[in-house]
Parts: sequence; C-alpha cells; structure tokens
Amino acid sequence: MMERINCVILAAGKGTRMRSKTAKVMHPLMGRPMIRYVVDAARAVSPRRIVVVTGCGQEEVQGSLEGEDISFALQAEQKGTAHALLAAEGHLVPGDILVLYGDVPLIRASTLERFIDFFRLSGGVAFMTTKVERPEGYGRVITDGTDTIIDIVEESEAAGAVKEIRVINTGICMIRADMLPLVKAVTPDNNKGEYYLTDICRQARRRGIAVKAFLHDESAEVLGINTRKDLLEAGLVMRNAILDRHMEQGVTIMDRDTYIEAGVVIGPDTTIFPHCFLMGRTEIGREVTIGPHALIKDSFIGDGTTVEAFSSLDGVQAAEGVKIGPFSRIRPSTVLKKKAKIGNFVEVKNATVGEGSKANHLSYLGDAAVGSGVNIGAGTITCNYDGRRKHRTTIEDGVFVGSNTELVAPVTVGKDAVIGAGSTITHDVPEGALAVTRAKQKHIEGYGRRKKCAE
Ligand code: UD1
Ligand code: CA
Repeated sequence: MMERINCVILAAGKGTRMRSKTAKVMHPLMGRPMIRYVVDAARAVSPRRIVVVTGCGQEEVQGSLEGEDISFALQAEQKGTAHALLAAEGHLVPGDILVLYGDVPLIRASTLERFIDFFRLSGGVAFMTTKVERPEGYGRVITDGTDTIIDIVEESEAAGAVKEIRVINTGICMIRADMLPLVKAVTPDNNKGEYYLTDICRQARRRGIAVKAFLHDESAEVLGINTRKDLLEAGLVMRNAILDRHMEQGVTIMDRDTYIEAGVVIGPDTTIFPHCFLMGRTEIGREVTIGPHALIKDSFIGDGTTVEAFSSLDGVQAAEGVKIGPFSRIRPSTVLKKKAKIGNFVEVKNATVGEGSKANHLSYLGDAAVGSGVNIGAGTITCNYDGRRKHRTTIEDGVFVGSNTELVAPVTVGKDAVIGAGSTITHDVPEGALAVTRAKQKHIEGYGRRKKCAE
C-alpha cells in the first residue's frame, strides 16, 4: 500500500572527512554506491514521494539513480541538515516526512516500518536513536529519562558529561507536515554556524511539543559513514550479511574472508573456498566449486562447473561442467561451452570454446572460435594482432593442435585437421589434413665430442 509519506534523503554533503574527489554517497559499498541502499530501503516502505537532496557531486548522484521515480532537490550551498531538508520542501506531497541520511546506508526497511509505526503514536516529531560503545562523531541524545528527548547535542558542541552519553542520534527522523515550521525556526548559532536538523528539538521544547526517541537496539545497522574507516566498517557488516544470506540459501562458504558483492546470485550446493571475489553482475549455478583465491566479475557460471585457485574471470559465460584453472585468465566476451577445460596459465579473450574442448596449459586464445572436441596443445598462441588490427582464428570441430603452435590470424583450421608441434600456421588448413611447418631435424655426428676437445 502507498503510505501517505514523503521520504527525503539528504545527500548533498561533500564528505570532507573522506578526503576524496568523489561525493561521499557515491562511494561503493560491496559494489554499489551507498546512496543506492538508502533509496532501496526508502522504496521498500512505499512512500508517495522520494526526494533526494543533492549538491556536491549532483550529476554523479542523479546519474546513478537515473530512470527511477525520484525527485531531485538541489541544495546549492551546504549549510546544514535542516537547510538541506528545506531544500526539498517544494517537492513534497501532502503527508508526513521521513528523513533518511545518504551516509547511513545499512538501514533496513523492516526497521523503518517499525519506526514509522512508533512515529504515528508520537506527538509529530520522532528521532531514531541507538546506543553505541564509541559515540564520537555522533549527536548525543539527552532524554528526560523516558523516551522524550530534551536535546540532541552535536559532537562539536558536546562537552563534559554530555560527551560521555552513549545514546546517539542515527540521523533518521520523522516529522509531521504541520511540524515543518520547527525546521524553519532552526538557527545556526553553533560552533560550525550550520543549520542543524537536530536543533528542532530545542525549537519543539520552546513550543511545548514533545519529541520522541525510538531506541533501535542494533547499532551496526545505523552506522553513519563519515570516514574511510567507517566505510570499511560498514562494508564488513554488509559483507557478513550477504554471506549469511547465501548460506541460508544453501551455499557453503568456507571462510568469512570472502568478498561477494550485493548483486551476485549463487545456486544451492555451491562451495566457495576462502578468499574469493565475486563481483558485479555475476550469476553462479548449483553445485559449482570456486576458489580458493578466485576472482569472478560480471560472469555466468553454469551448474557443476569448477573454477580452481587463482583464476580471474571477467565477462565470461561458462556452461555446465566446465573446468577452469588453477591460474586461468579469462577475459570479456568469452563463451565456454559444456565440459570445456581451460587450464593453468591459459589466457582466453573474446573467444568461444566448444563442447568438450581443452586448452590445458600455457596458451593464448584471443578473437577465436574453437569448435567442439578440439585439443589445444601447450604453448599454442593465436597471433590475433598484426600491430594495427585484430583478426580472427577459426578452429573447427575435432582439430588437434600440437604444442607450441602459432596460428597467425586470420586463419582457419578445417575440421579434424592435425597440426604438428612447433608449427607456425599462416595459411588455412584443409579439413582432415596434417599441417607441419617446422624445419627438418638434422644430425651432425660426433659434434658433441669435437666441442669438448676445443674447450
Ligand atoms: C549527523 C547528525 C548527528 C547524527 C549523525 C548520524 C545533524 C546536525 N547531525 O551528523 O546528530 O548523530 O548524522 O550519522 O544532522 N547533508 C546535506 N546537506 C548539508 C549537510 C549534510 O545534504 O548541508 C547530508 C550529508 O550528505 C549526509 C547527511 O546529510 O548524508 C549527514 O550530514 P553529515 O555532515 O555527515 O552529519 P554528521 O556530522 O554525521
Ligand atoms: Ca554523517
């Protein structure tokens, strides 16, 4: 059901403490910009309107959310969180306002739902708070001993006993439409000269309006990211949550030291050995074995396939029962058909390798079409580049390529042909033929002894 609420996401800040030329909310967390997670959580509570307030890195932020039903409000100058919220005013539809922070990305929709329910029973203003071990950097929440907030004191203002308070403001708050004047009343009379949204607590108190605190008990979920250290911290929380999800769905994960990005799909009974990196739009089938130390990006891996240690795959389509690695490097636009085998120190790029074909050792297959049942001997190289342009090599079904062969493209090796080891193939090989280009072996009798005498 569409809730009669607006969701405003504050994301205009530069994030000075990140020391980066990239806007803070665009920094990736497990493969996606952090703003992405906040938008997804917002979307999940079905607000009538999502407004993202942008400023620093405005174009990047908008670009990353293109094609979505989002209103963008511009806060040209970043004068504080209250000022940012007011920048969104013109975009709001009638209804309450849920404020999310672009740098608090781990928030879950289920928590937001509970918070919204809590807000409905409040007097029109509520903050989500939590208790942490180290409150540095956060606004400290002073209550009257119940769930009524007396004040929120920002780090830069906090002193003495207030600094010791471990109940902090998560930033997430909710404001009834008729309470917007409280935000407008905020003044910048603080050490930083900013319009703090937290100042609405003081404004409410003056007017006799009670501000309520919803104490959330999972502080890891409401971690705010201000520094690269926070980014790592949040990444680890998210990484573990992703691993948990896969394990729940029947994937064996051998070690938490494994990096699986948010968008990766993995089938049941697949085993991931330690230190693997599964990234981007990767989809892995069932009963697959991966790693240890494998990197797979933007690839599809079919059922029952094995990717052994230290293999690197990017943009690969591997069918069922394929064997890859150890130490294979497979680059974009590669298609490996059923039961193909790519072994150690083999590089493949923009190539198709047919059903049951093997390149087990030390080869380069680039811009090539390899048929089914082909054997590529150790040290085979498709010479695809003439210094200016790339050319294709075609190796038809059933071909046997002897070791240490160079195939100078463009070239075609016909069906069932055999190439003798050590050949440099520059002309098309007819179907079923044997091609050998190596020089004849000569013997000079007694040469070894003569050489020894001369020494
Ligand atoms: C803020 C809260 C603090 C809370 C903490 C939780 C205020 C004044 N303080 O502090 O109480 O404990 O978050 O993580 O709200 N932003 C704008 N425009 C601005 C300023 C900020 O859009 O002019 C955005 C930022 O992009 C960021 C968010 O608001 O996503 C929070 O701003 P930040 O400067 O990080 O506030 P904190 O100091 O972390
Ligand atoms: Ca922050």
